[in-house]
Amino acid sequence: MAEKELKKPAPPRHIAIIMDGNGRWAKKRGLPRTAGHSAGGEAFRRTANYCRTLGVEYLTVYAFSTENWKRSEEEVSGIMRLLTKYLQEALRDMEKNHVRFRFFGDLSRLNPKLRKLCLDAQSRSDEYHEVQVNFCLNYGGRDEIIRGIQAYVRDVQAGKADVNALTETGFSAYLDSAGIPDPELVIRPSGEMRISNFLPWQTVYSEFVFMDVLWPDFSPEDLDKAIEEYHRRNRRFGGA
Ligand code: IPE
Ligand code: IPE
Ligand code: MG
Repeated sequence: MAEKELKKPAPPRHIAIIMDGNGRWAKKRGLPRTAGHSAGGEAFRRTANYCRTLGVEYLTVYAFSTENWKRSEEEVSGIMRLLTKYLQEALRDMEKNHVRFRFFGDLSRLNPKLRKLCLDAQSRSDEYHEVQVNFCLNYGGRDEIIRGIQAYVRDVQAGKADVNALTETGFSAYLDSAGIPDPELVIRPSGEMRISNFLPWQTVYSEFVFMDVLWPDFSPEDLDKAIEEYHRRNRRFGGA
């Protein structure tokens, strides 16, 4: 067994997860949807800690999409309240475990308290070097690309960028994920097989693992299973 442990291949450097299935988890138990979001917050904590012990460098989690504002006022405000609570707790963990936090998405639409929490977490954890958590909040992949284009065009207008010299790598620097390698593995629990506007630029060659488990039930064993599945894949990047 010790030998088997030694032979375990290194985990992917960057894992991205669509934290989906909170509502169905709550419904199955006859609980309000917010109870599912609360249990989902625990699953996030568990998973981030496990990624840290595995030596994963980047964990990107999808917490709230640009489309999720379409939900009832009650659900949205419940989610925002829970996010504030969980982020406050995560910040305490962060100090202890040296987790680095970064936020993807347009934070300008969040309430000022939550926005401040995000910005503080980002700056306070800047020098930490354990796992980096990229927390996607009011994130949409198309919105990220539009914001990237706006920033790029401003640089062109200011004479700081040359349109004819634009490359894929050069444009990546204008995205929320600037400086971060693309995720090798994307996991979507909850049984849905779509990406729902999550990291369209960054995942063109990622491996996708779809799982039936609902996010609040997601365990370290589920992450192990997804990583094992990833290691069984043959990545070719268009080569033979
Ligand atoms: C994911 O769980 C959390 C958010 C999108 C905020 P859902 O709330 O989408 O749960 P289901 O998909 O309805 O079960
Ligand atoms: C994706 O889940 C967004 C998050 C998990 C934050 P959704 O539940 O919003 O996606 P759809 O509606 O099933 O595509
Ligand atoms: Mg959902």
